Amino acid sequence: MIRPILHYPDPRLKQNGQNVSDITGDLVTFVDDLVATMYNAPGIGLAAIQVGIPQRIIVVDINHEEPGKDLLRLINPVITAREGSIIWEEGCLSVVDYTAEVKRAAKIELTAWTPDEKEITFQAEDLLAVALQHEIDHLEGKLFIDRISRLKRELYTRKVKKLIREGRPLEARKGQAAI
Ligand code: NI
Repeated sequence: MIRPILHYPDPRLKQNGQNVSDITGDLVTFVDDLVATMYNAPGIGLAAIQVGIPQRIIVVDINHEEPGKDLLRLINPVITAREGSIIWEEGCLSVVDYTAEVKRAAKIELTAWTPDEKEITFQAEDLLAVALQHEIDHLEGKLFIDRISRLKRELYTRKVKKLIREGRPLEARKGQAAI
């Protein structure tokens, strides 16, 4: 089931995700919904917070050539190590019509649970590392625009307020590699 994606400045995007305490059938179905919603958008990552469910669940697939091949479905993800830095032009399915350069760790190590109840540890770099850090930020109520300068954020906020005033729908622009 495709779920509606929340858009900034929806206050629900500021919620903190709770740790999942049990992987139930309903939870696995919800993760499938998140995957379907991400591909439908289309985007390369989506966090449960973005569809209004404050739980620590993210899905990421940066492989546009073969969707599903490298799909990650992560429950209670935790970054355990960070190395180096990288600047990437980010967009977000919850932040319409906007991209900005964000600095993040270039390489990370992460542990998480999968829907089939396996605990996994792996490393990621470049775009995958960026996408994972971006999604984990969502679980802490943080958007990439919280990581840019105050002036840039203020200008973007004004633009969104104008869109809302004009009654324009806050739909993410298609074709943008939104995370
Ligand atoms: Ni995002």
